[in-house]
Amino acid sequence: MAGALIGEAFISASIQVICDRIASPEFIDLFRHKKLDQPLLMKLKRTLLTLNAVLDDAEEKQIEKPAVREWLDDLKHAVFDAEDLLGEINYEALRCKLEGEAETADKFTNKVWNFLPTSRNKFYQSMNVKIQELLRKLEDFVQLKGALGLTEVVGRKFSQRTPTTSLIHEPYVYGRNEVKENLSKVLFSDDASKDDVSVITIVGMGGVGKTTLARMLYNDDRVKEHFTFKAWACVSEDYDAIRATKTLLESVTSKPCNTTDLNLLQVELREQLRGKKFLFVLDDLWNEKYTDWNCLQTPFTSGARGSKVIVTTRNKNVASFMQNVPTQPLEPLSHEDCWSLLAKHAFGNVNCSAYPSLEEIGKKIARKCNGLPLAAQTLGGLLRSRLDSEVWNRVLNNSIWELPTEKSDILPALGLSYHYLPAKLKQCFIYCSIFPKDYEFKVEDIVFLWMAEGLIPQAENGDNMEEVAKEYFDELLSRSLFQTSGKSSFVMHDLINDLALFMSKGFCSRWEGRESHEVERVRHLSYAREEYDVSLKFEQLKEAKCLRTFLPTSLNPYNSYKNYYLSKKVVQDLLSSHRCLRALSLSSYRNVTQLPDSIKNLIHLRYLDLSGTAIERLPSVLCSLYYLQTLLLSNCSSLVELPADLRKLINLQKLMLGGCASLAKLPVDLWELISLRHLD
Ligand SMILES: Nc1ncnc2c1ncn2[C@@H]1O[C@H](COP(=O)(O)OP(=O)(O)OP(=O)(O)O)[C@@H](O)[C@H]1O
Ligand SMILES: [Mg+2]
Repeated sequence: MAGALIGEAFISASIQVICDRIASPEFIDLFRHKKLDQPLLMKLKRTLLTLNAVLDDAEEKQIEKPAVREWLDDLKHAVFDAEDLLGEINYEALRCKLEGEAETADKFTNKVWNFLPTSRNKFYQSMNVKIQELLRKLEDFVQLKGALGLTEVVGRKFSQRTPTTSLIHEPYVYGRNEVKENLSKVLFSDDASKDDVSVITIVGMGGVGKTTLARMLYNDDRVKEHFTFKAWACVSEDYDAIRATKTLLESVTSKPCNTTDLNLLQVELREQLRGKKFLFVLDDLWNEKYTDWNCLQTPFTSGARGSKVIVTTRNKNVASFMQNVPTQPLEPLSHEDCWSLLAKHAFGNVNCSAYPSLEEIGKKIARKCNGLPLAAQTLGGLLRSRLDSEVWNRVLNNSIWELPTEKSDILPALGLSYHYLPAKLKQCFIYCSIFPKDYEFKVEDIVFLWMAEGLIPQAENGDNMEEVAKEYFDELLSRSLFQTSGKSSFVMHDLINDLALFMSKGFCSRWEGRESHEVERVRHLSYAREEYDVSLKFEQLKEAKCLRTFLPTSLNPYNSYKNYYLSKKVVQDLLSSHRCLRALSLSSYRNVTQLPDSIKNLIHLRYLDLSGTAIERLPSVLCSLYYLQTLLLSNCSSLVELPADLRKLINLQKLMLGGCASLAKLPVDLWELISLRHLD
């Protein structure tokens, strides 16, 4: 019955995709026909699966063992390389199909293949060599896994947190009076809902103060008069109905209870509660299974009208089936409250007005916490009794993520939200680290990028990939990893954004200034677009051999109407040397009037954003980028025509042409674009 959550290694999602691809009929067909080494391919699959089996173990052990961390990190890159290699081969399968080679293939004997154009033959030979090299590399990882003691884990529980208790330990609670008053009204009302027992759910990101608020309510003086029983159960990640029921029963009877039989426990609890008004707190619920909740709450129904259960959770999905009064979303604190909290912890009983210079730095530190009490409390604790502006400045200028783990709860607390994401969602979440802090995004902005990066699997129920991606988005939103901002925009909390970047361990990168960057292993890059983006700014990119995303961003959406210039050399270099690009944006650069033919090199390209450029024509070779899914051309006011062969882009799902005032006509056979779902 225990609903244990497992921390999956995010790379296992990629391995799954690769193995599915290897097993696909198109792939097998291609190998059969094109003298590609099929047994080698099967060996590759087996090796990947062998590695996959120990990944969950590695994910967990990497925290304590740097060697495991390095192993995992290197493996991740080997797997990315494998993705690129198989993507290249799969492209060839697509090309054959679309250019008519496949039909003739069956008619050819092996002998005839020997007379194929030598360039093609060479291609297949080089692929065989590359698979061999990859396999050799992966076999090294297999060997090392033994030496590192990595094993297969099945259903291991994982909890690093001390259970919460009902005792108040905050010296003072800031900024929660209003929400507390609102919830008190529900708590002490006997007719809040049609059911006898009402469930009040407090939802919010990790460390925002849900438990603290529940504790305030639980310890309210009126509770004693109003309820016959009250009990607090910390449920946490390794939910266990037996343990939770036992805790509640022992609190209600004030007696230890020896049985571990769920049935006996439930019967006893139901009898105790019969006709009585009770208040239970179930703190920190993770389990999303409706049946588990149903099982836990069955004995509650014998309670008297007006009984209440307060649930705290990070996950709105948990809330959705539990609440029968509206959910209480808990927002971060104001900067002022955050500063008061930080000061309380930093100064203790010392009067802070005696230190005006520290106050100034402290307020800036508090802003870094972005309303998260957990961060304010941690940093306040770090500065406690160290009333020296040099120390405070150091804390201000250092990343919160660089704090030693023994001094900070932030990473373990927030990291948990990441840890329990399924592997697929981990990848999507990490990818969002390329968005700058405070960047407002819409669902569409991210969904098509995820798809381009191969982070969205084909749905088993036949749902379209875009729908799956939207479900992923909702899931991250409900787990409080995104927050709503305005009507249809979203943001990531600064610290959550930092967490994503930290977890990417260098393969996602965000350039905001002119600082130098570690680029060799970067796959996804975003940077702040400037009025003149000269080639010097991108000099370091030469070393990023495997770049997949190139994305200029700006924080102000109105800035997209400004004029920006990107050095022609940068475009040339991108198209000729970054052959793994999957998502490329040159949006808003007004000097981009054409694209060189070398764009045909970018066979992996799935997302091309040229909106707001002065592009006049697209090169016809663009139509050989068969993977292309998204082509954004909004506000290209100089665009006069689309390439005639556009129908060849059989994977194109989204074509945006709004504001293309000079575009007189569309190619007649546009209806042949079988995947197209959005045409504007
Ligand atoms: N309003 C507040 N005033 C003062 N301290 C606060 C406030 N809110 C939270 N804290 C402190 O911040 C820390 C984190 O708060 P809390 O444990 O309530 O967060 P949570 O939302 O329950 O986090 P999690 O999702 O990890 O369970 C606690 O140590 C708490 O004492
Ligand atoms: Mg909590």
